[in-house]
Amino acid sequence: MIRSMFLLTFSGLLLYSCTEKKEIKKLDKALEVNERISYNESYRPQYHFSPTEKWMNDPNGLVYHKGVYHLFYQHYPEDIVWGPMHWGHAISNDLISWGHKPIALYPDKHGLIFSGSAVVDKKNSSGFGSLENPPMVAIFTYHLMEGEKAGRTDFQTQGIAYSLDNGNTWKKYENNPVIGNPGIKDFRDPKVFWHEESNQWIMALVAGDHVKFYNSENLKEWNYLSDFGKGKGAHGGVWECPDLFTLKSENSDDEKWVLLVSINPGAPNGGSGTQYFIGDFDGKTFRVEHDDVKWLDYGMDNYAGITYNNEPNNDRVFIGWMSNWNYARNTPTEVWRSAMTLPRKLTLTKEGSDYYVKGNPIEAIGQLIEKSEDNEIMRVANESKWILEKDFLNESKISFTADSLHHIEIQLTNNSNDALLLGIDPEKNVAYIDRTKCGKTGFEKSFAAARHVMPLKIRDSEISIEIYLDRSSVEFFINNGRYVMTNQIFPNEPLTSISVSGDQKQGIRNFKIEQIKSIWNEK
Ligand code: FRU
Repeated sequence: MIRSMFLLTFSGLLLYSCTEKKEIKKLDKALEVNERISYNESYRPQYHFSPTEKWMNDPNGLVYHKGVYHLFYQHYPEDIVWGPMHWGHAISNDLISWGHKPIALYPDKHGLIFSGSAVVDKKNSSGFGSLENPPMVAIFTYHLMEGEKAGRTDFQTQGIAYSLDNGNTWKKYENNPVIGNPGIKDFRDPKVFWHEESNQWIMALVAGDHVKFYNSENLKEWNYLSDFGKGKGAHGGVWECPDLFTLKSENSDDEKWVLLVSINPGAPNGGSGTQYFIGDFDGKTFRVEHDDVKWLDYGMDNYAGITYNNEPNNDRVFIGWMSNWNYARNTPTEVWRSAMTLPRKLTLTKEGSDYYVKGNPIEAIGQLIEKSEDNEIMRVANESKWILEKDFLNESKISFTADSLHHIEIQLTNNSNDALLLGIDPEKNVAYIDRTKCGKTGFEKSFAAARHVMPLKIRDSEISIEIYLDRSSVEFFINNGRYVMTNQIFPNEPLTSISVSGDQKQGIRNFKIEQIKSIWNEK
């Protein structure tokens, strides 16, 4: 059953391939693995990407090429804990349904394959392909375990690999590494993109407490350009997984450069998180325009996210790893570990003289919505509650509009008395998610040490709420992604009951609970 679903998913993709027979053979091999896996294990996400089995962390090499979105990821194929890193690989033609591919990059004599990015070298600047068949090039970090164990500081270098068959097979460059280590212990996670204005490749690379920028004409030789970040932004931990891109403001004429930097530890609710900087990049130097620290997501489980290169609609589509290094190795799953966030479209909004990045699930998610139930104008009266039972609640989208900034709390429960709380507290001016009483929490103490809060600067009269619940995650979007929290949850059994409470002034409109279909088809 699963197999037929994969073939269906792939049949669309195969249209783009001229060597269909060869392709199908390869896919058959990849499918052998899938047939053993039900995708219905306890906590298995039903509409978020997770690896078939074993360990996954960061998304890598997000790139679109010839009708296919590629998702590579940090992967240890032998165990459900972090280990020698490979690049796992999956493909999609809509960012919704995913097909698994064989491992793309294996460790070699230069080291394990840590995080990085991928580009389509349209002008064949690298010479790896031709103008007729431009190469895909992956740029990643080599991590040499022997060097680390020996106490050296130069064990992380940057390497490249290329594919001439649309990402199916990869060949490492014979003169790797392309950037040697200047004696910096944390020196990794290259994000490369083509910079149109200066007609060159630009790389953002993290170096402990700052980002280094490089340029290149051919992806093989890199020149150092500048540093950014010492003394700027949050510095509670090491900087990881940078990304640099432009966003046009949705409500002004401006276009800004946005630099994402993940940081671990030091996130607002503990452990791993992603901050961003708004500013300007002139092909050489990044300059930030604000002093405050801005966070992409106030939940505990959105880390190391990057955006797609070569996105066909010119959208900025982001995927993050839905976990946190505080407890990533301890979460209660057995066959696989970790999932990705929903793909989110990033946009820029101006509030007064400040800019903020918004992140909203891509529209295509709508394809998965199965049934809809409207409850027009529900008014929550005087601290009273209303309750609904839904067997599909744990795989659903809950959405409504609240009239104004008043107290509201959504409580999701089950017969085991687990309770997940999401709310807005107007006195403290925060939104929150509380998973402290939601099932399994004891596997690591910081997982449910406290309620997670997110500061709000809401002046709008209306507040829109969208909540995406999957079997082991909750994503909370307020005001079209202006405020976002992403958390893993492990209830003892599926959440089936929802209650909403508020104060007498709170009005709720357009309340909906919609079932979200599984992308893994047969259960
Ligand atoms: C971020 C990270 C990266 C590194 C990778 C190793 O989660 O620590 O900095 O490249 O994971 O798996």
